[in-house]
Amino acid sequence: MPAPFDLERIRAETFVADTAWYDETGSTNDTALDLCHRGLDRTPLLVLCGRQTLGRGRGKNRWWSAPGALTFSLVLHTDRLGLTESDWPKASLTTGLAICEGLNSFFQDQPARLKWPNDVYLAERKISGTLIEVGPLPEKPLIVGIGVNVNNSFHNAPPSLQSTSISLTDALGKPGDMTQVLVAVLKKLEESFRCLANHDAGLAEAWRRSCYLSGRWVEVDTGSRCWTGKCAGIDAEGGLLLETTQGRQRLFSGTVRVIRDRS
Ligand code: BTN
Repeated sequence: MPAPFDLERIRAETFVADTAWYDETGSTNDTALDLCHRGLDRTPLLVLCGRQTLGRGRGKNRWWSAPGALTFSLVLHTDRLGLTESDWPKASLTTGLAICEGLNSFFQDQPARLKWPNDVYLAERKISGTLIEVGPLPEKPLIVGIGVNVNNSFHNAPPSLQSTSISLTDALGKPGDMTQVLVAVLKKLEESFRCLANHDAGLAEAWRRSCYLSGRWVEVDTGSRCWTGKCAGIDAEGGLLLETTQGRQRLFSGTVRVIRDRS
């Protein structure tokens, strides 16, 4: 089956040096990992599929990939992009921000926002998620797995998903051009990762401005304990700031649940 994406355009207009296309695959992150084990020359490599059957989310979560979903992984040799391992903890926010900015070129009235640490929200619902993993030694490439709900409408999805998820087609009322969306996100990814490598202060400023959680009451489960408080934004190091009864906390990982909107 020919790819329903313009792969040539993607390679010409973005920093992607090589593409690997699959009609169907379990998880593009797993496929990317396999390709890394076999040895890769040209990166960034884009691993892209028509249908993902075993999409993985953070922790034990699954990623619902109905037809029309955009699911891909980018393999990045971060040293070739001027990044060091000390920059990796900020890779999720950098990626999330690029997705927001890429998607915002399609929406006029409501911006996509970054939900710390790795989700993108539109109209109070999740439109995209990121799963970043580290590839094999010695090069340890980053595998940046991204799922964006583009043409997979949630109108007929299970009720639990309908109330929590949204796709670009649901928001626009018409289908999106998958290549166009992918190119927009990839261009912003290149820009954001360049800012990260250059320690550009504008990056933290941008994720602070896009923070979906700011001013909301949240519960954050860090694994070792559960914090409740009002979100005061994201700091320059990528930490979530939480005003709690025990003072201001800075959290660097965790699962967030919104318990009350801005007040
Ligand atoms: C999350 O929200 O928990 C992260 C979801 C990440 C999903 C993407 S889809 C492409 C890539 N392949 C996977 O198996 N997962 C990521």
